[in-house]
Amino acid sequence: MEQRDQWATKIGLILAMAGNAVGLGNFVRFPTQVAQNGGGAFMVPYFVALFFLGIPVMWIEWVAGRYGGKYGHGTLGPTYYLMARESLKPRSALWLGVISGMLAFSLTVLLNSYYLHLIGWSAAYSWFSITGAYFGQNTGDFFSNYLSNHGEVFLFWGITVILLSIAVGQGVSKGIERWVKVMMPLLYIFAIIMVGYIFVLGSPIDPNWSTIDGFKFIWSPNWSYLGDHLWDVMLAATGQIFFTLSLGMGIIQNYASYLGPKDDVALSGLATVSLNEFAEVVLGGSIAIPLATAYAPKIVPADVLAKGKSEALAWIGQKFGLGFSYTSLPNVFVSMGDAGKLFGAMWFLLLWFAGFTSAIAMYNYLVALLEEDLNIKRSIGTWIVFLIYFIMGLPVVYISGYMDQVDAWVSFQLTLLALFDIIVAVYLFKPDNFWKELHEGAWMEVPGWYKPIILYIAPILLLLPLVGTFKSFISGRIGIAPWTAIIVMWIIGFIESYYSIKRKYAEELEKNEVIVKV
Ligand code: PHE
Ligand code: NA
Repeated sequence: MEQRDQWATKIGLILAMAGNAVGLGNFVRFPTQVAQNGGGAFMVPYFVALFFLGIPVMWIEWVAGRYGGKYGHGTLGPTYYLMARESLKPRSALWLGVISGMLAFSLTVLLNSYYLHLIGWSAAYSWFSITGAYFGQNTGDFFSNYLSNHGEVFLFWGITVILLSIAVGQGVSKGIERWVKVMMPLLYIFAIIMVGYIFVLGSPIDPNWSTIDGFKFIWSPNWSYLGDHLWDVMLAATGQIFFTLSLGMGIIQNYASYLGPKDDVALSGLATVSLNEFAEVVLGGSIAIPLATAYAPKIVPADVLAKGKSEALAWIGQKFGLGFSYTSLPNVFVSMGDAGKLFGAMWFLLLWFAGFTSAIAMYNYLVALLEEDLNIKRSIGTWIVFLIYFIMGLPVVYISGYMDQVDAWVSFQLTLLALFDIIVAVYLFKPDNFWKELHEGAWMEVPGWYKPIILYIAPILLLLPLVGTFKSFISGRIGIAPWTAIIVMWIIGFIESYYSIKRKYAEELEKNEVIVKV
């Protein structure tokens, strides 16, 4: 049998996994969640969720991925079939594999339909910053003009996705690994430079407003807010942990499938979490919010500003979000004068790197699916995926509201798939097998008291984001176009997973007897 591709170096693997996790979530979504959930009130449940949900599910996905890789699989369908088969007869295990594979396939396509456009926006805005295109203009109008200029939107989307396909087309060790080895260090360096600058910034335009206001807002635990909004803050914190660590997608498993059978997963999984959290809490938390408070007089409307500081802070909290990065922050860069061109370019390039290295992982999932499940050569598969991304990205550009509706669904489906992680890769695979696999070749020993956390506490905590995302999903209305996209992707994902498992394991499915290991 042909040797499957494997990570060439440990550092390459760790950077690739960090690149997978570190994304727009760290620099945009995290500050947004903090700002909208009472600042410091958010941080306590956030760390609770990290410890009791994030780390366990990260380990589960690493274990599952390496296990699938042993059998030549980097996709969830066949991998979860094999794991479920430890407790179930092959024909029942088949259905768990098929559903997991279907969820993972449809998630990757749906999420990328807009994620890639968001990354394209940052590419465009890096350019607009360095050339000073929005300087001296109303940044809100500039942004909507940009979005309605479809040629330009597709240009920057195209540059981004062509670079992605080149990287993925070169394979895992010769392509992805080499690209992230350049991009991830640059990402951290850019972020550290920006944070350093913000730390010495103080009060750049108005003695009443400083970066300290932002840091205080994030880091003073706000117990009374937490007490009043406990449930909502918990939902938001668990949801953020989940999203930021790239869990529930099948892409951590895909990267882990390129490990050797005895390569460490325990310490490496923890390293992934640590690198992501550093980029989120330390770096992501020290850029957008402190910048917004230091320049509040430039971005908060005068009538709100007149009502006082806490009103102005509340306004910033409300306004935070994706649009904030493209409309309010550019005003900050403009106030910095010429230095702002460079600073702005750095911010948007940072977002571009962060998004790119997450998108590369999702891209590889689909190429691996074509390669391993359907025997389509990587060089051809890469361009098939390009075409799928292009077509699925069209409604994002042409149908207003489409992106938010698909996003609401995707957030829910992510947590649903994580539930399958726990059910299949821990319970059906059998907890003892799981624990043994976690320690196979491990560079650290996970303390025994962590086992019940993985078995009982993580699944209970997972119910929070599951309920939370479902709630926000049903509170919006999903139109006919997003539903069509979702259902068509399910059908394709279903057929694909079914076929890929049948093709490889026809014989044992025919017999349908519990596989006894010797
Ligand atoms: N973890 C990424 C981020 O923080 C988002 C992501 C989620 C990427 C799921 C891929 C899959 O932005
Ligand atoms: Na992240």
